[in-house]
Amino acid sequence: MKRTTKLLTMTLAAVVTACTLTACGGSSKGDAITFGTNAEFPPFEYVTSNGAIGEYDGIDMAIAKQIAEDNGMTAAVENMEFDSLLVALQNGQIDAVIAGMTATDERRETVDFSTPYYTATQVMIVKEDSDITSAADMADKKICVIQGYTGEVCVQDMGYTYEAFKKGTEAVMELTNGKCDVVVIDSATAQKYVSDNEGLKIVEDPSAFASEEYAIAVQKGNTELLDKINKTIDKMLADGTINELAVKYTEEATAE
Ligand code: ARG
Repeated sequence: MKRTTKLLTMTLAAVVTACTLTACGGSSKGDAITFGTNAEFPPFEYVTSNGAIGEYDGIDMAIAKQIAEDNGMTAAVENMEFDSLLVALQNGQIDAVIAGMTATDERRETVDFSTPYYTATQVMIVKEDSDITSAADMADKKICVIQGYTGEVCVQDMGYTYEAFKKGTEAVMELTNGKCDVVVIDSATAQKYVSDNEGLKIVEDPSAFASEEYAIAVQKGNTELLDKINKTIDKMLADGTINELAVKYTEEATAE
């Protein structure tokens, strides 16, 4: 009888150990949160040699890292095309999307968004000698946008024809090469491109472009993860960390 108890205890101990090793009963992804992003959007996310999360750096990457850390987890990043992010989220390939993504009503139909952490607006990047001073001036110009960005939706809604590129850098190159007259893109990213390229300037038109709020997306109904994300965002907003990150990464981007 004694022997049996001992054997049973040993067996139980072995099972417990095996469970710990394989993390059975826990989250299937172990202790990592997988964030999907499109690292073509400085100062929010870009590829660098030594980033906040592996080779990925920027305001969003610092926020993602903090969310994971606050929950005793690590942050993993899957870099993909911007267009693919919400599909990957719905497929369960990634746990959340952090990509300078504007929380729009259309996107809200398929995913849930966190508390907004940054306010931006669409702006126009033009050559320094351009005569474009308002969105209406784009009417007879060659317009470049980035595929799937809210900037594309804005230009579409204005009824203008445009050319869509996969990356912001490609659209800006088209502009510097004189093949297009204006690039419509988010404000902070536009600033980065203007400081990186000679001879460009930003034209704002707040009456034509509404303000947009960036938020993190999770699968509809994933309140468990959303609560974790919101806790960290609320904290980082309240103590000024997100402001500091915005300043830090904007300066860093400009100094390069
Ligand atoms: N804010 C814009 C949008 O939500 C552009 C975001 C682009 N983000 C990126 N990581 N490429 O459509």
